[in-house]
Amino acid sequence: MRILITGAAGRLGSALAPRLVEDGHDLVLSDLHAPADYAPSSALGFVAADVRAGGLEDAAAGCDLIVHLPAWHGIHERSRSEADYWRLNVDGTFWMFQAAVARNVKRVVFLSSLAWHSAYGKYGFTKRVGEELCEYYRQNHRISYLAIRPADFTPTSTFLEHGTRLLYGGVDRDDVVAAAVASIDHLARPSNDEPSGTIVNAVRRNAFEAGQVDDWEVDPLAACGRIFGGAAQELVERYGLDIGRRPTVVDPGLGGPSIGYTPTRDFASFIDTLWLLDQSLGLPTVRTLPGP
Ligand SMILES: NC(=O)c1ccc[n+]([C@@H]2O[C@H](COP(=O)([O-])OP(=O)(O)OC[C@H]3O[C@@H](n4cnc5c(N)ncnc54)[C@H](O)[C@@H]3O)[C@@H](O)[C@H]2O)c1
Repeated sequence: MRILITGAAGRLGSALAPRLVEDGHDLVLSDLHAPADYAPSSALGFVAADVRAGGLEDAAAGCDLIVHLPAWHGIHERSRSEADYWRLNVDGTFWMFQAAVARNVKRVVFLSSLAWHSAYGKYGFTKRVGEELCEYYRQNHRISYLAIRPADFTPTSTFLEHGTRLLYGGVDRDDVVAAAVASIDHLARPSNDEPSGTIVNAVRRNAFEAGQVDDWEVDPLAACGRIFGGAAQELVERYGLDIGRRPTVVDPGLGGPSIGYTPTRDFASFIDTLWLLDQSLGLPTVRTLPGP
């Protein structure tokens, strides 16, 4: 398929684009500025555009699907105003849909957020309106959409923080890429049905049930050993990982399983990687390794 990625230079877009090229898709990238590693000689097209002002029609011409990413998100709540959020997250999404209508693009993957649930936060509210726009364009312009609600995948300062976050509310960026790929594959399937609207929670794998972590805070290290094994217990102690809070069971929702989204990363997979790094690199390097 020919796919337009808006916000392509950001954290998700820069990981998603190479994966879609590998899968044989033809891409058009768009952002305020070209991605850092973009080579003008590459086969990928790049169109500079500010989504708040419209003007995505050229970029969307000939495309089968748009992946829409630009947004102010959770980490910008202090530095950006309500008006900033509205202009980028809501107006930007509206103008993306206008370009889809103008160029007859019938499939959209919209990056929403789990912050959707905190509906009256500045960020979650704009994602609610964004999902409403998806539904409006489904009903009025027959555009099928997939709205992905990822958990937090913002960069952490170290690899150890990244891994520890996978015990709580975080998700690995690779799993969010997998959710986007599954969404695109789902929308690519031919269908004679009404245009579809699907919501997917892009969350990490659950390695435990709520009942297994009820008494976690009584002795976190022992509970960690019971669930993740002796090696996990040893590594948590050696690297001083902050696992004092009771871990959370995340809600996978219904949309992910229905489109074949299967997350593969969690605290257990992090411990496997940490174990390998620990064996080959030794403690000081692992401690300072930047988060992925
Ligand atoms: N990062 C997370 O933890 C997280 C969690 C949940 C949901 N999300 C959602 O996923 C999406 C992608 O997140 P990300 O982490 O890749 O974001 P990011 O901030 O890394 O990237 C956003 C991109 O949008 C571009 N952009 C900003 N303003 C623009 C404009 N006016 N016109 C065109 N492009 C513009 C930026 O240059 C940037 O390249 C967002 O919609 C975000 O709300 C992210």
